[in-house]
Amino acid sequence: MRTILIEAKNENDEAGIARAGEILRAGGLVAIPTETVYGLAANALDPAAVNRIFAAKGRPGDNPLIVHVAAFDEIRPLVTRIGKKAEKLASLFWPGPLTIILPKSAAVPGEVSAGLGTVALRMPSHRVAAAIIKAAGVPLAAPSANVSGRPSPTNAQHVLADLDGRIDAVVDAGPCSIGVESTVISLASNVPCLLRPGAVTLRQLEEAVGAVDISPAVFADAGSGQQVMSPGMKYRHYSPKARVIILRGSLERFIDYVGAHCCEGDAVLCFEGEKELMPLPAVTFGREDKAQEQAKRLFQALREADELPAQRVFARCPGSDGLGLAVYNRLLRAAGFEVVEL
Ligand code: TXA
Ligand code: MG
Repeated sequence: MRTILIEAKNENDEAGIARAGEILRAGGLVAIPTETVYGLAANALDPAAVNRIFAAKGRPGDNPLIVHVAAFDEIRPLVTRIGKKAEKLASLFWPGPLTIILPKSAAVPGEVSAGLGTVALRMPSHRVAAAIIKAAGVPLAAPSANVSGRPSPTNAQHVLADLDGRIDAVVDAGPCSIGVESTVISLASNVPCLLRPGAVTLRQLEEAVGAVDISPAVFADAGSGQQVMSPGMKYRHYSPKARVIILRGSLERFIDYVGAHCCEGDAVLCFEGEKELMPLPAVTFGREDKAQEQAKRLFQALREADELPAQRVFARCPGSDGLGLAVYNRLLRAAGFEVVEL
């Protein structure tokens, strides 16, 4: 299959957006920009189209997809109840980088929810994404547009590097502004539960709906066979080809440790401004005190580490407050939870 590149600088690019909508309505796969990462979209109500997503990404069939809408009312037919908490969260954070999990209706194909009784819903704020959803005229199932396990794509080139020839089109609207995937909160149980941290922070969620549990999978490996609430969390994720090891501790100890333990093929993932201090080839992912920069750079930096090419990457440990929790969570997964305390 030839993958078409559609340029759509903004939502006024009517021809490109209409073309994307047509392909989606016809059951095709289109990678679309969102404010978080690029998504691989298909008609969420068409099981055959949804199955193509799993095939193109090599995604395990038990990992459910997020359904993207352009207006709040579009979620009504997809769920059995909405409830006050979902209404509150949507009124505060939609459109935006928040995914809300609710009990699903029969309208959502089992392929989308991977057999679960719930559905994940998101209204992206990226105007091109909203315009494409409207043009398609159907809700869009869209996981991140990477090959399963690879770092999520934050620009159209990343999408092509993974999926060229496997999908119908990519809509290029430039780099994503946030750079890590949406916050995922489940409202399917009594107490809301944070399944994946993102740009809508834990504190913002708590201010909106009161107590929020944090899924253990946010901090620890959920791959050891236990039941997990968010199936995606049990897979190694966001991984470059290199082995990533997080070193938690001061810059001085980091430099000492790396100097003492490095060998041929090693590299460093460090903060902006530290590169010159490193005894090894280095890629940077934003300034140490700027979680927004780190979020925007992280996945690109992991891809750059592979291009060095590095076999092993020692990574500086980011903070875990606010958006930092999302950065830390993604880096932990890229490292397969391998952390050395310095
Ligand atoms: O920012 C984002 O959310 C991006 C853009 C494209 O919107 N999408 C994205 O999708 O990150 P994906 O498929 O890469 O991640 C979705 C996560 C997975 O961890 C999946 O297991 C979880 O959400 N998920 C989806 N439906 C779920 C459900 N019904 N219950 C629990 N977890 C669910
Ligand atoms: Mg993903």
